Amino acid sequence: MGKIMILNGSPRAPRSNSKLYAEMFSKKCPNMTAYYNITKLNHDELIKQMGEYSDILLVFPLYADAIPVTLLNFLKSYEKSAHKSRPTVSVLINCGFLEYEQNNIAVKMIEVFCKKNDLRFGSVLKIGSGEAILQTPFKIILGRKMRQFAKSIIKGKYTTIGITMPISKSIFIKASTQYWINYGKRNGVSEEEMRTMKIEQI
Ligand SMILES: Cc1cc2nc3c(=O)[nH]c(=O)nc-3n(C[C@H](O)[C@H](O)[C@H](O)COP(=O)(O)O)c2cc1C
Repeated sequence: MGKIMILNGSPRAPRSNSKLYAEMFSKKCPNMTAYYNITKLNHDELIKQMGEYSDILLVFPLYADAIPVTLLNFLKSYEKSAHKSRPTVSVLINCGFLEYEQNNIAVKMIEVFCKKNDLRFGSVLKIGSGEAILQTPFKIILGRKMRQFAKSIIKGKYTTIGITMPISKSIFIKASTQYWINYGKRNGVSEEEMRTMKIEQI
């Protein structure tokens, strides 16, 4: 097995958490990796390049309990394309909520895509508390899981792994609420404004 192609499907790929997870994957992976952001304009180019890889890693966040539109549109382009390479597709997904199981439906969506397009489905790393975990000491546990995940892809012994911060839901809710209140303050938005739908109209 040679290089692994990493595709970042976050709508904010250049400054995304997915990018940080992809970087961590590359560091922990003994094999070479090639990293690309999915954009509106590079679908054809990426699909063509996919032909050179036996393994693809899709890195993306959970958006509204599903895959983000950036990735969805790319998968649609793949289905329509004439380039029908057959790489194995692995998934590295992160979500904001504590429970990594929140990612299950989005993972299923990729599994269905693979089935439909005759692609082998590979390994899965599901990350909960994806906005926070990298800024905590639990990053070390994540690093270990990341290495295990990378090895499973390289060895072709595909597996599914889940990881989140080992804290209670109530502590997570308290800490994350405080985090977002402070974040709003720094950006001139009050807690009351954040708790209304008005924020959508700005
Ligand atoms: C529009 C939007 C929808 C989201 N929906 C969910 C969700 O349904 N469940 C969840 O746990 N996190 C949700 N999140 C949180 C993201 O998954 C989380 O912030 C993630 O770290 C973003 O990764 P990225 O920086 O790679 O885009 C959502 C975030 C946004 C901006």
